[in-house]
Amino acid sequence: AADHLVLFMPSGKRGRFPKGTAVLDAARELGVYVESVCGGRATCGRCQIVVQEGKFAKHGIESGPSHISPKGPKEERYERVRGLAADRRLSCSATIEGDLVIDVPQDTIINAQVVRKDADTRVIERDPAVRMCYVDVEEPDMEKPLGDLDRLIVALERDWSLTGLTVDPWLLPRVQSILRKGEWKVTAAVYRDRDDAEPRLIALYPGLKNEAYGIACDIGSTTIAMHLSSLLSGRTLASSGTSNPQIRFGEDLMSRVSYVMMNPDGREAMTRAVREAINGLIGKVCEQGEIDRHDILDSVFVGNPIMHHLFLGIDPTELGGAPFALALSGAVCLPSSDIGLDLNPGARTYMLPCIAGHVGADAAAVALSEGPHRQDEMMLIVDVGTNAEIVLGNRSRCVAASSPTGPAFEGAEISCGQRAAPGAIERVRIDPETLDPRYRVIGIEQWSDEPGFAEASEKLGVSGVCGSGIIEVVAEMYLAGIISEDGVIDGSLAQRTPRIIAEGRTFSYVLKEAAPRLTITQNDIRAIQLAKAALYAGIKLLMDKLGIAEVDRIAFAGAFGSFIDPKYAMVLGLIPDCDLDKVKAVGNAAGAGARMALLNRNHRREIEDTVRRIEKIETALEPKFQEHFVSAMALPNKLDAFPKLA
Ligand code: FES
Repeated sequence: AADHLVLFMPSGKRGRFPKGTAVLDAARELGVYVESVCGGRATCGRCQIVVQEGKFAKHGIESGPSHISPKGPKEERYERVRGLAADRRLSCSATIEGDLVIDVPQDTIINAQVVRKDADTRVIERDPAVRMCYVDVEEPDMEKPLGDLDRLIVALERDWSLTGLTVDPWLLPRVQSILRKGEWKVTAAVYRDRDDAEPRLIALYPGLKNEAYGIACDIGSTTIAMHLSSLLSGRTLASSGTSNPQIRFGEDLMSRVSYVMMNPDGREAMTRAVREAINGLIGKVCEQGEIDRHDILDSVFVGNPIMHHLFLGIDPTELGGAPFALALSGAVCLPSSDIGLDLNPGARTYMLPCIAGHVGADAAAVALSEGPHRQDEMMLIVDVGTNAEIVLGNRSRCVAASSPTGPAFEGAEISCGQRAAPGAIERVRIDPETLDPRYRVIGIEQWSDEPGFAEASEKLGVSGVCGSGIIEVVAEMYLAGIISEDGVIDGSLAQRTPRIIAEGRTFSYVLKEAAPRLTITQNDIRAIQLAKAALYAGIKLLMDKLGIAEVDRIAFAGAFGSFIDPKYAMVLGLIPDCDLDKVKAVGNAAGAGARMALLNRNHRREIEDTVRRIEKIETALEPKFQEHFVSAMALPNKLDAFPKLA
């Protein structure tokens, strides 16, 4: 028989197959991932595909020979019992009868953008590390004294080509009863993180078990965020977050390291705290997603190096000072029970690699999500926290560094600063004529000069200025001529407006007069200058390394990046000149990267390779850093022009 051309979308993989080949088999042969739990028995319904072309009855094109087989008895039975959408077929039953274009439906939409509505959504192809494999095991026979487990292994090898299967010890005492409960029909959960690794039996269920779940978690120093996904459909069932309880040991990372150094059981206490919080969060997402936590078989974690170490139970002291040695930088893959996670006893945990002592697995996850290594454009990724983690590069070369920006961008060290929360000023505009401000507060609809604001603010209370508000107020003060290029508040303006007031030998700007009075002091401006100079100097150092004068694209990761207006970031010289429409906030890109690694094991290899290739630059060791830092103190700075801002 003549071979037929079959094209699978969205991967674009194609090949020729003899008439009568099951679509599922064709997919397998081409390495297109199509889920299948029942092993082609037309009972699990996981192998669904959409036939895009070919003479498919649904499209009403019935003239001429059909390119896909009509539904057989098994598929019809499935349709009757479980229901099948009009455009769907079971790929294990449908066979190739002509040239075809097959759509493998991807329920997985990775949405990194959590804050803005114009979210960029991407479809990722799935290939999870856990596969659910249904088998019929031979019943015991006195003539053939092969053990129950051994016959299970034989069946898995026969039906699922799983050679060299090893078994989690926790299952050994349970295999017999599970086989009998399922009347010799069982579903094996097989873990295989990479193709060249031996498959591992991690869980076993009586009968057909048609579901398996995974979690992706970003351990931030302030917040822990988690997504619960189906490993079989890719769908996200729940997302939730909680605050990191380690805050009680120290607000920022360095104070947590000092806590470990000063308290003999400090490390243990913080490890316990974060694991407890994560177990609690698992309970929360399972409740939301209405699943049993023991059905979670895989998990991916990311975090900055200190969070990474504390979560794994490793002393982070070495990360507290030069040379910032990581205990381990490569990816970690281990049984979740080893780190105290309350999931299925066979569940596995994967942690992305760390890039360097200051640039963690969270930055690796952002890189995986944004993919500078997948594009030609020169992309700058900035994740601003107490340290700014910076990655710059494209397909051919990537460099990374961290810059000690300090906590000013988060509102700390600023006299009227506070975390982003209801009651915090987040947007500021200053009239260049009158020098009067108008502002917007988190939790209040109106701007401060609009009707309704007064009552709303009376109720809520305006308590301080958060990171994005500070960036804006300083930038607006600069644009209105209140501060000079050197960042000095012009005291002579006190004659023009009562908003400029003398405080000792320097001046302050009164942003809000009514109690609590909020002022921007000279020290506040200095703190912002120091932070932004550190960030820009780090970026500049990486640009020097690559010998480039401009970047094509800028991605702001993290919560801070979601609120900051790129224009103001550029006015202050936080980031280099770039087309404003190419500067975007990518929200919780670390969480998105973690989900990619959860749902497709090939992304694990991709980021491991990328991290190995990334050149790590230690800002503290670079003589140029100090020089750039000094020049970057000015507004916007003395290093580069910003032609695109005009
Ligand atoms: Fe289970 Fe097709 S593989 S229904």
